[in-house]
Formats: sequence, C-alpha cells, structure tokens
Amino acid sequence: MTWSAQQYSKFEQQRTRPVIDLVAAIPTREVRTAVDLGCGPGNSTEVLAAQFPQALVSGLDSSDDMLVSARERLPGVGFEQADIATWSPGKTFDVILANASLQWVPEHATLYPRLVSLLTPGGSLAVQTPDNLEEPAHRLARQVAAEGPWASTIGAVKHPERHGATFYYELLQGHCSSVDVWRTTYHHPLEGGAAAVVEWFKGSALRPYLEPLGAEDKAAFLARYLALISEAYPALADGTVLLPFPRLFVVSTR
Ligand SMILES: C[S@@+](CC[C@H](N)C(=O)[O-])C[C@H]1O[C@@H](n2cnc3c(N)ncnc32)[C@H](O)[C@@H]1O
Repeated sequence: MTWSAQQYSKFEQQRTRPVIDLVAAIPTREVRTAVDLGCGPGNSTEVLAAQFPQALVSGLDSSDDMLVSARERLPGVGFEQADIATWSPGKTFDVILANASLQWVPEHATLYPRLVSLLTPGGSLAVQTPDNLEEPAHRLARQVAAEGPWASTIGAVKHPERHGATFYYELLQGHCSSVDVWRTTYHHPLEGGAAAVVEWFKGSALRPYLEPLGAEDKAAFLARYLALISEAYPALADGTVLLPFPRLFVVSTR
C-alpha cells in the first residue's frame, strides 16, 4: 500500500497535536536513544527530538515517499526503510515512539511485548492509534465500498488490528512497571467543510479503498462518499467542519 507524504501533510498541524500530548506523557527522564516507528514525513520525529534534545534520535518507515520528506525536514536524524513487523534493531532504546502507525501492523499480542523487550530498564514505549473505526467517516467508507459497482474490485478491506484499553493494559502490565492508557476525542476544525473531511481521509483511511480503482471509479466513489459525509458532518455557520477523532494512547514503561 503506497503513502503520499504530500496528501498526508495537508492536515499536519491537526495530525501532529496527538503526538505532542503523547510525548509529553513519557515518564522516562534519562533519554539517550529514541526511535520513531512509522515516522511518516518526520512530524512525529520532530516532536520527539524537541522533547529529548540530548538524545540520539532515529526513525523508520516502510514508505519511500515518507522517508524522502522526513530526511528533508530533519537532515541530522538517521532514517531507515524498514517494516515494523520484522524490525530487529539488535540494540535497546530509552524511548520507542509509534504515533498513528501500529494500527497498520498486525499481531499486536506479540508485537507490543516484543517492542517492550527492546526498551532499556526504565524506558518507555509510547503508542497512539486512531480509535475511529465506528465513526461515520469509516462506516460510510465501508458502506460506499460495499454498495457500488466497485464492490468486488475493492474486496474486503482489512484493518489489521484495533483493540480497546483493557486489551493493552492486560497485555503489557506483566512486562512493565507502569502502563498508562487513555482515550481522547480531538475535535479538529477543518476549513472547507465536508470536502476537507474527504481530503483528510484520502491521506489515510480511504487509501485501501481507492488504491484498486481506476480513475473513473475513484471519482465516482469519492463523489458518493462526499455526499454522505456532507450529511454526517454538517458544516458550521462559517463553513468549518469540526471533525471528531477518538484516539487511544498507551505509554508502557519497563
Ligand atoms: C498515519 S502515518 C503516521 C505518521 C507520523 N508518525 C505521524 O505521527 O503523523 C503512518 C505511517 O506508518 C507507516 N507504516 C505503516 N505500516 C508500516 C510498517 N509495517 N512498517 C513501517 N512503517 C509503516 C506509513 O508508511 C506511514 O508513514
């Protein structure tokens, strides 16, 4: 699945707010090494580096396009291409950050404990994942995909893994001295009404639906999605849409 740094970065200010809150909650004080898994265009890496200026910070991502952007933004940081699912660094870190990336990686029951095992004693794994599969933006994408002539071309879109707070707490408490879990709904003001909501999800959740489609079907899918999104997310008097976006945070410290 391909990622576009340009499309993703259109809403960078709003997308970066959760990582600021996540990084602020990391209790580890002596941070010499920190790594950003699924660093995207480097926005989350930049927040990590600013919080721990004394640390050697690195980042990884599977997308070439994202890595080009990240290297341009932070020339002093080492970025490598790797798959989080098979990443095996051969060393430990004081902080492992994964902001809005692990929802694309399967088998959380083994992945999270493996990442914790790559922490130094007292080190923290800090993860934020969207918790929005039942929000209208996702429900309507599934509906449009199932109802259109493109249904068989798109097929079943799998969202690898989503779990609730209890799952992560129970999974990690035996491996960590503290597990801090919380859920927040952000309300992102998007200028441009429903069309801006569609643009937002074109950069993330809509990609698996749109990628298999030709240009004509893609345009028809987006027109139908926009019509439904306009009803689900009515614009305020000034044309802005306040997009509710629930997110789950987990900070586990060894
Ligand atoms: C939604 S973006 C998050 C970017 C950034 N961390 C942020 O906070 O905005 C998800 C990123 O995870 C990357 N990604 C998804 N699956 C991955 C995997 N298995 N291994 C490495 N990177 C992955 C994507 O390429 C993309 O850059």
